[in-house]
Amino acid sequence: MEAKKEHILATGGLGYIGSHTVVELLKSGYEVTVIDNLDNSSLEVLNRIEELTSKMPNFYKGDVRDSEFLKDVFDKHAIDTVIHFAGLKAVGESCEKPTLYYDVNVVGSVRLIEAMVEHDVTRIVFSSSATVYGEPEELPISENSPIKPASPYGDTKMMVEKLLQSVSSSRPDLSIAILRYFNPVGAHQSGRIGENPKGTPNNLVPYITQVAVGKHQHLNVFGDDYNTVDGTGVRDYIHVCDLANAHLKAIEYLSTNSGFNIWNIGVGKGYSVLEMVNTFETINGVNIPYKILPRRPGDIDTCFADPKKANDELNWSAEFGLEEMVRDSWNWQKNNPDGYDA
Ligand code: NAD
Ligand code: UFG
Repeated sequence: MEAKKEHILATGGLGYIGSHTVVELLKSGYEVTVIDNLDNSSLEVLNRIEELTSKMPNFYKGDVRDSEFLKDVFDKHAIDTVIHFAGLKAVGESCEKPTLYYDVNVVGSVRLIEAMVEHDVTRIVFSSSATVYGEPEELPISENSPIKPASPYGDTKMMVEKLLQSVSSSRPDLSIAILRYFNPVGAHQSGRIGENPKGTPNNLVPYITQVAVGKHQHLNVFGDDYNTVDGTGVRDYIHVCDLANAHLKAIEYLSTNSGFNIWNIGVGKGYSVLEMVNTFETINGVNIPYKILPRRPGDIDTCFADPKKANDELNWSAEFGLEEMVRDSWNWQKNNPDGYDA
């Protein structure tokens, strides 16, 4: 008989990346407890997770900044590993509301780590971002590339990374994984879970799918004068299911290794905005009208990962290409034009 799998606590586990990871965890036999304050998610996600896995994770509605709430959850469940997805992630909003971002992202992480340590939970995977690199000085970007975030959001991710590094120095027995995600896109192949942005999407692919479903007349392409293949911005897009699997690999790694680790999670290849649009049109047979606008403030021209460290140490690499990414994004959007609100 297979050995009993660990018990994973997923903060923010009903969000976009969290929900896809919870599905993979349950399918692989892990026991899963989710906490989420539903700030950017919906209880309907729980039903969809059950539909896809025939299992219902334990769920507690609450806030990662609430120590009493965290204590209750850790008292109830013998957690082996925490995956800390919960947080706020909009660059523009973080410039308008920096204290909110520091509170949720940094203070929330402090409270969570305190609760973990009090309950002898020694392993954590943290959702960081390629945004910590800011304007890259070298390409591809390796884990040793300079860290210089260009927004309060990026600052909060850098601070939590530093916090975890300090915690690791004081407690070398802890096992810590920082995953720096590049640009997650796509959705579960079933079309039952996917990205569900509130209001007008800031990110490229959800905007394209909303144009395809008729919510916007055209895509605004922010700048065609970058030093790239066609002048539009280049990013390392990664299928959310590949990203979810990277978490399972990180959990396996932490179960036998202590210490502080950082891994880039990207495909290692960049595509321009117009390449994304063209691939979306070709694969899905829909038309995406677009207009060229001036550059979006704060954007960089090119960003893509060197994922070799994750390939070698985690035995992880991305399986899906751009075609699956745009196919699955569209499949999700066309089946759920109003996301989980339908
Ligand atoms: P998401 O907004 O879909 O998911 C975050 C979840 O956390 C939501 O379900 C939300 O309700 C919950 N949450 C927010 N604040 C909370 C709080 N105080 N207490 C409890 N729950 C709370 O975002 P996502 O895209 O799934 O991102 C997950 C993580 O990955 C975030 O930390 C984000 O910064 C990071 N990340 C995301 C991207 C991206 O492009 N999506 C890129 C790099 C890093
Ligand atoms: N873009 C458009 N039109 C849009 C939206 C985006 O042309 O409507 C362009 C951008 O200018 C950029 C590219 O599409 O060239 C990708 O933009 P996204 O907003 O999708 O992604 P970013 O790379 O700007 O940022 C995202 C997240 C950040 C995260 C970063 C790296 O929003 O939080 O990926 O992980 F830090």
